[in-house]
Amino acid sequence: MTELHFDPLAGRRPVGATAAILGELRDRHRAFRSTFGRGFWVLTRHEDALAVLRDPKTFSSASVNALDPDPRYRWIPEMLDPPEHTAWRTLLRDHFAPAAVKARESRIREHCAALVDAAVTAGECEFVDAFAVPFPAVIFLELLGLPVDRLDTFLAWERAILHGPPTANQARITAMQEVTAMFDEEIERRRADPGDDLLSAAASWRMNGAAIPREDLLAFCLLLFMAGLDTVTAQLSYAFWHLAEFPDDQRAVRDDPALIPGMVEDLIRAYAIVQPGRKVTRDVEFAGCRMKAGDMVMLPLLAINRDPAVFPDPGRVDPARAGNRHLGFAAGPHRCLGAHLARTEMRVALEEWHRRVPGYRLAANDDAVEHAYGLLGLDRLPLTWRPA
Ligand code: HEM
Repeated sequence: MTELHFDPLAGRRPVGATAAILGELRDRHRAFRSTFGRGFWVLTRHEDALAVLRDPKTFSSASVNALDPDPRYRWIPEMLDPPEHTAWRTLLRDHFAPAAVKARESRIREHCAALVDAAVTAGECEFVDAFAVPFPAVIFLELLGLPVDRLDTFLAWERAILHGPPTANQARITAMQEVTAMFDEEIERRRADPGDDLLSAAASWRMNGAAIPREDLLAFCLLLFMAGLDTVTAQLSYAFWHLAEFPDDQRAVRDDPALIPGMVEDLIRAYAIVQPGRKVTRDVEFAGCRMKAGDMVMLPLLAINRDPAVFPDPGRVDPARAGNRHLGFAAGPHRCLGAHLARTEMRVALEEWHRRVPGYRLAANDDAVEHAYGLLGLDRLPLTWRPA
């Protein structure tokens, strides 16, 4: 079995470098063992990743971070296995279903249009700060009923949890404690005076006839906080980097907005931002690897979603890609709960942006840098266009 010193947390790189490194590894190895940290398996092919994601009995979500087999925290529902996991998903389903997202779409569009209008006349912007952060973050805070004027505090916590260097473990734990304390207070307040937001609903949830333990409710809030504040931001940063870098694709969505849903789907495929892990529950031979109970497995979706056996010409973003079975939202029981919301936000962002902003390009190419701590994403994306 091949052993490599593969470091998935190698910090900051030029945009596209992580995909290139992972792509080369995938082309050479169906699977390998990384000796980095405590060691973990890496599976690079679509077929294997799908099998792992659909088999929670063998590949548990007790840890979803390949570098940390015994985490001191528990994110709900992400780090639960069935049947406990299934009960949570049943509870959450309606809140994130297509109809619930559809009901919010006009507000999503209104907020999006206001942000683009505020940016367009300047002829340039730093896309991450001006748009990719505030657009989904405000929508998310409104969904939960959290005060939008505390956005900066929330973002500082989120950065400490998800983007701190691996050495900043204490800062990460402290930020998680602060987020948890904030949610505790907010939920208590809603028990006395409920509104029509998600936290008010959560305050009265029951599972199997009993009230949900306070710790579990807070563990759910913590996960939602991370998933809701960071993911669409990261995905938008790659999407707009791509459209700035590939003017033909940019022109296609501007000229024919009907292409946007397909474009969004293939951007999510080609620029997968999450690289989940699973914990092996029993000794098993899989993809030619002798895995032991307790081992960690990493699924680098960025490489898996560009597996040429499933996606012809995988580096190309193609709005008409047929039968796009990408794993950008994973698969199996943990398939992203927020996928409908994320897709809607991405689609609306591309529609409203290209309706208002003329042809744009990267202002300073070498300033666009991707980070690979936790989620992949861009730190900065300076864009420029001819002011109207
Ligand atoms: C483009 C944006 C997004 C991407 C690419 C994405 C991707 C993912 C992936 C790959 C997983 C599975 C992780 C695993 O299997 O371990 C996941 C799970 C999850 N996502 Fe997303 N996500 C996005 C946006 C969102 C949003 C906006 C929300 C909520 C507001 C959200 C909520 C969740 C939750 C709660 C889970 C855990 C589901 C479970 O364990 O059953 N996601 N997401």
